[in-house]
Parts: sequence; structure tokens; C-alpha cells
Amino acid sequence: MFDLSNEVIIITGASGLLGKQFSNLLLNQGARVVMLDKNISNKLGSDFYSLRSDVTSAVSLKQALAKIKSNFSTPTGLINCAAVNESPNSNNRSNKLEHYSIKNYQKTMDVNVKGVFLSCQIFGTEMAKKRKGSIINISSIYGLLSPDHRLYHKGSKKYFKPIDYSISKSAIINLTKYLSVYWANDKVRVNNLILGGIKSSQDKNFVRKYSNRVPLGRMANLDEFDSAVVYLLSKGSSYMTGSDMIIDGGWTAW
Ligand SMILES: NC(=O)c1ccc[n+]([C@@H]2O[C@H](COP(=O)([O-])OP(=O)(O)OC[C@H]3O[C@@H](n4cnc5c(N)ncnc54)[C@H](O)[C@@H]3O)[C@@H](O)[C@H]2O)c1
Repeated sequence: MFDLSNEVIIITGASGLLGKQFSNLLLNQGARVVMLDKNISNKLGSDFYSLRSDVTSAVSLKQALAKIKSNFSTPTGLINCAAVNESPNSNNRSNKLEHYSIKNYQKTMDVNVKGVFLSCQIFGTEMAKKRKGSIINISSIYGLLSPDHRLYHKGSKKYFKPIDYSISKSAIINLTKYLSVYWANDKVRVNNLILGGIKSSQDKNFVRKYSNRVPLGRMANLDEFDSAVVYLLSKGSSYMTGSDMIIDGGWTAW
């Protein structure tokens, strides 16, 4: 029921935190894995194919598709991990709304919304032609609710999680629902993971403040979304499309 051994699964943003995790997970599940990222070197093995590709460019994604089809076969799964998710104090920017740069806004929307749309359009259309596919998009608790900016303040320094991230993650919720209906008769299922924060290299103070806001009292471990990914890509979720699966330690429950 959860067998992925004959699947060809594309992961965008495969050099990132979740992209790497899911690539290794799916290789271990026996799938053939195509890793796309703008920061990756091209390599072809018997069970994996890494390809440098830019999700904001239809040309780049179409070139990737042609290579995937000639070296592997038509993709049957897609996980959209490529994203811009800058930490609020990167480059010492406060991200205050009043002065928020439209250039930054556009960059986030290009990758997080246009990039997901193009990846779905180009790879999903191919799956629809073959009448088989499962797409996983990735949203965030910040696409459902506003960030609590107090988590990001450092003493008297007021840093804010950028508004474009929230807008882009809300957009993914409806993009998923639209595509799930559009491709329902073509047997391509499209679902959305709404994730809470993952513990990585954040400073201790942030982790403490964040954890205090979570009913389970901590940030997520990197492997705590693995089973959801296997479930959504496999026949185990055959009656599920257009859904949001919230995995956030209870953040949105109170
Ligand atoms: N990390 C978290 O705590 C967290 C929490 C909730 C949701 N999410 C979501 O999970 C997804 C993955 O997050 P992550 O933490 O692994 O991000 P990450 O920043 O570690 O990785 C993102 C990857 O996307 C790639 N990328 C960026 N622009 C690209 C482009 N134009 N073309 C191709 N690749 C591009 C980057 O090179 C990078 O490897 C994102 O959608 C993020 O919003 C993450």
C-alpha cells in the first residue's frame, strides 16, 4: 500500500533542509528520485538524477523534463520544496512593513508561488497525460496564521518575519485545491503539507520562545514529516486530494 518502488519522483529545492531529507527518504523507499535545485550539480545514477534547474523558469523546467523522460521515464510524483524562506534578521533587515522592499517581495513570490505553479504545470501536465501522479506542495503555519513577530525580536531590536512569505504560503493552499479539482479526472492527486518550524540552526532564545507557543512544547525534528510524504505519494492516500495536512505540534490548535 505504501510501496514507492516503481515511482519516479521529482523533488524541487532538493539541496535544502527538507529537500535533502525527502530525497534520502525516497531513495531508501526504492523510488527513483530526481533532485532539482538551482544549487546542485548534474549527476545521473541508476536510482537518482540531480539536475541544476530554476523553478522560476519554464524553459529550465521543460529542459529538465526532457532529460528526465529520456534518462528515466515520465514522473509519477512531485514534491515542491524550492522556496525562499529567509530568516527575519538576515542581512540585518528588520522587514518592517512600511519600508518592505518590493524587490524582495517579488523574489519571494517568484520562487514560492510562480515556481510552484510552473513546476505543477509542467510536471503535472505530463502526469495527467499518463493518468497517474501525486503532487505534494508545502505551505506553512504562517500561510494560515500571522507569524508572532515577538519570537523574532532581539531585545530592543524589532525583527519581523517578512509578509511576502505568509502571502506566498497562503497562495499554495488554494493553488493546491484548484489543481486537485482540475486534475481529479486525470488521476493526478494534489495535496498540501502545512508545516510548523523545524529545529535546525536557530539561536537558543528563538527555539525557547517558539517551543513555548507549541502544545507539544518543541520544534519539529527533520524526520517527522517522512511518513506523511510516503503516505501522500503512495496508494495509501488514494482517496485524498485537495487536502491540507497540518503537522505543527499543535501550533494552530489553540
Ligand atoms: N524549514 C522550516 O522550518 C519550514 C517550516 C514550514 C514550512 N517550510 C517549507 O518547506 C519547504 C522547504 O523548506 P526548507 O526549510 O527545506 O528550505 P531551504 O531554504 O532549506 O531550501 C530551499 C531550497 O530551494 C532552492 N531554491 C531556491 N530558489 C530556487 C529556484 N529558483 N529554483 C530552484 N531551487 C531553488 C534553494 O537552493 C534551497 O536548496 C518550503 O516551502 C518552506 O516554506 C519549512
